[in-house]
Amino acid sequence: ASGAASTGPQPRASVPNYALFNERLGKARSTILENKPLTLAQKILYAHLHDVSAMSSAPVPGETYLKLSPDRVAMQDASAQMAILQFMLSGMPQTAVPTSIHCDHLVEAYEGADKDVARSWQTSREIYEFLQAASQKYGIAFWKPGSGIIHQLVLENYAAPGTLMLGTDSHTPNAGGLGMLAIGVGGADAVDAMAAIPWELKAPRVLGVHLKGKMNPWGSPKDVILNLAGQLSVRGGTGYIVEYFGEGVDSLSCTGMATICNMGAEIGATTSVFPYTASMRRYLSATQRADIAEAANAQQAAYLSADTQVKADPAKYYDQIVEIDLDKLEPGYNGPFTPDLYTARSKMSDQVAKEGWTDKVSAALIGSCTNSSYQDLSRAASLARQASKHGIRVAEGTEFLVSPGSEQIRATMERDGIQSAFEAIGAKVLANACGPCIGQWNRDENPVVKNREMNSIVSSFNRNFRARNDGNPNTLNFLTSPEMVLSAALSGRLSFNPLTDSLTAADGSQFKLEPPAGNELPTEGYAAGRAEYRPLLDHKPEMHIPITPTSQRLQSLEAFKPWDGQEFKDTRVLITVQGKCTTDHISAAGKWLKYKGHLENLARNTLIGAANAALDGKVNWVRNAIDGLEPAEGTIPDVATSYKNSNVPWLVIADYNYGEGSAREHAAMQPRFLGCNMVVARSFARIHETNLKKQGVLPLVFARPDEDYFLFTKNPHELVVRTEGVKDISESTPTVSLIVDRVQNGKVVESHTVLCNHTMSADQIGWFKAGSALNLIASQQK
Ligand code: F3S
Repeated sequence: ASGAASTGPQPRASVPNYALFNERLGKARSTILENKPLTLAQKILYAHLHDVSAMSSAPVPGETYLKLSPDRVAMQDASAQMAILQFMLSGMPQTAVPTSIHCDHLVEAYEGADKDVARSWQTSREIYEFLQAASQKYGIAFWKPGSGIIHQLVLENYAAPGTLMLGTDSHTPNAGGLGMLAIGVGGADAVDAMAAIPWELKAPRVLGVHLKGKMNPWGSPKDVILNLAGQLSVRGGTGYIVEYFGEGVDSLSCTGMATICNMGAEIGATTSVFPYTASMRRYLSATQRADIAEAANAQQAAYLSADTQVKADPAKYYDQIVEIDLDKLEPGYNGPFTPDLYTARSKMSDQVAKEGWTDKVSAALIGSCTNSSYQDLSRAASLARQASKHGIRVAEGTEFLVSPGSEQIRATMERDGIQSAFEAIGAKVLANACGPCIGQWNRDENPVVKNREMNSIVSSFNRNFRARNDGNPNTLNFLTSPEMVLSAALSGRLSFNPLTDSLTAADGSQFKLEPPAGNELPTEGYAAGRAEYRPLLDHKPEMHIPITPTSQRLQSLEAFKPWDGQEFKDTRVLITVQGKCTTDHISAAGKWLKYKGHLENLARNTLIGAANAALDGKVNWVRNAIDGLEPAEGTIPDVATSYKNSNVPWLVIADYNYGEGSAREHAAMQPRFLGCNMVVARSFARIHETNLKKQGVLPLVFARPDEDYFLFTKNPHELVVRTEGVKDISESTPTVSLIVDRVQNGKVVESHTVLCNHTMSADQIGWFKAGSALNLIASQQK
C-alpha cells in the first residue's frame, strides 16, 4: 500500500513514488475535498490516505481519524526493542516498508568517542546483538553505535520531500527540514507501518509560521524555534502541524530548517514541515541523492509546495498564523528547565541578575540531533579560530563538549579542520551519539554534580527538563544556538553578549568576536567516514534472533491467546481507578526504562500510579477478590500476578480520559499480559483505547458514566462480572451488557445490569477475535 515497498535494507532512500502520491491526492481532491486549495501538510497527508474510497466526507481537523500508509519507519535503540519483539509475532518475513534502526541512546559520554562506544558494547551488547540480528532477519538497515544519531542519519540518508515517515522518537520531525512529514510515535504505531496495518492519525490543524526578512549575521535557525517556543509555549502546537512559509524560508539552509522542525516537538506539534526549496535540492545532491532532487524538482509545482491560493491568502487556509521577522530576530536563550522560557540575548544579562541564575557556565555543549550540521559546526569553529588567534581557550572551569550527529559529519569536521579548531580551545569530542542530551553523561566526579550545586550549562540541544543532562536537579540548563554556546564557552558567562561585549586576549588586550561565518555545505563534499560505521545491510531471512532465556532486559513475547468465542464470565474487578490515570500511571518510565524489552519485568510496574476509588484514592493498593489467594491485599502488580497465576480473569474500571498521555503500547500490553480482559471506562483517551484493541483487550465505555461508575467504587473485590453481547459483537451492534453480581459469603446479595458501548470497527473486531492485531496478521501470513 505504500509508496515505497521494502526491497530489503537500504543505504539511502530511493526515489519516492510521486505518481502514486499524485494519484491518491487527486482522488481525494475530486471526491471528499471538493478541489479546494490545500496547505503542503494537508497534501502530504492526503497523498498517503490508505483508502480514499472508504471516506465519505472531508476530514474534520481535530475530529476525523485518517488512516494512512507511511513510506518508512526509523527507530532508535531504546524504543526499537519492544517494537521488534512485537513485529516478531506478526510472522512477516520482512517489514512492509523500508525501516532503519539507529543505536544512539545507549552510549554514555565519559572518556571520549571511541572508548565510550566500546564501553557501550560491554553494557548493552545483548540489546545491540538482538537488534542487529532482527535487522538482518527482517531486512532492516542497522546503524550500529557510533554511526550517528537517528535524526541526523535520517536527514542524511532517508528523508525525501513529500513522503511520510514514522519514527519512534519525539524529535523525528527533524526530517521536515527536507520537506518530509515525519512524525514521532510509540513502538506499536511503528509496528503498524512495518506490518502494513493502516496507521491512524487524528486530522491535524495547520499552524502557519510566516518567516519574513532574511537571517542576520548573528542569527541562526535555532533562534527561530526558540522564539516560536517562547511565543506559543510547550503546549501551543498541540494538535497542529506547523508549516513554514514566506520569503524568509529561502534564506535558510536545509539543515537549519531541520533544526527548526526538530524542536517543533518542544511546542507539542504533531510535526513541522518546510516547502521544497533550493537549499533542499543542494543538500540532496551533496548527500548522494541527486536522483531524488531531480524527481522532486519535477514534482514541485504539483505537490511539494502549498497551493498558490494558500500562499496568496494564507490567513484563509491556516488555522492559525504566527509571524517571525528574521531581520529583527535576536539570538535566544531558552531555559532553565523548560524550552519555552525565552530570553532574547540583549536581555540576558539583566535576566541573569534578576532571576539569580548562576552566571558562571560550567559546561558548554554543541552538536546532538538538533544542531550538528556542517553549517552549525563551521560557524561555531569560526569563533573558535578567532579565540585561538588571540591566544585564548575556553574559560577556566568551563567544560566544552562536542557531540557530532553522525560519522559523516565527524569525518568531514575532522578533514576540514573544524575538529582541530575546537580542540585547540579545549574541546572534547564525544561519540556520534546522544550522550549528554539524554543524560548519558558521566559527570559524577564533577564537584557541582557531586554536591548537587547550582550551576549553569548551555547547550545547542533541544530539551532542558530539570536533571535531564547530568542528573543534578540544580543544574540550570539553557538552550541556544551553537554560535552562542561557543561565545558562552569562551567567556564562561551566561551574561556575556558577543554582539556588544569584549573578550580578553592572551596579551591582555580586549577584542570583540566577529560574526560567525561558515558554509552551508562542505565545499569538498562530505567525507564518508570510517567504513565500520556504515550501515549493516545484510538481509538474512533465516537469521536466528538471540534472546537469552535468563536475560533480565529482553524476553520473547508469547502471542496472546485468541478469544474463545464465549462471553466473559467470573471476571473480577482488580481496581476501580479514581481520577486521572495516564499511561505513566499505567506503565511508569524512569528506572523501569531498562526493561523496555522485557514484558514480564516491566509488568511489575502495572498501574502503580493508579488511585483506588474504593480506598479513598490510595495509590497502588487493592484488595484481593479471591479468598485464599496471596496477598489478601497488596500492590496492584502483586494482586494482578496472583490472578494471572490462578487463571482468574480481571478487568479495570476507569474514570474519565483513561490512558491519556503517550502512545506507549506497554500500557496496554502489561495489563493484557497479567490477564486483563476488559477495561470499562467513563471515557478513554483515544490512542490508548486503540492500543487496548490492538492487544486484544476489550475497551468499553459506560452508557451512563455518571451513574454506573459508582456501582464499582464500593468494595469492588466483592463483584463478579459476566458479559452479554460479546458473542454477537459487531460494528453495527455497539452495545455490550455487564451483569454485575455482588457476592458476600458465597451468596449473590445484589445484581445489576450495566449497559456499555464499544467503538470497535470491523477490522478491530478482527483483532479482538484473533487475540491481538499482530495475531491477525500472523494468521494471514500462514
Ligand atoms: Fe538523541 Fe537528544 Fe536527539 S536523546 S535523538 S540527541 S534529542
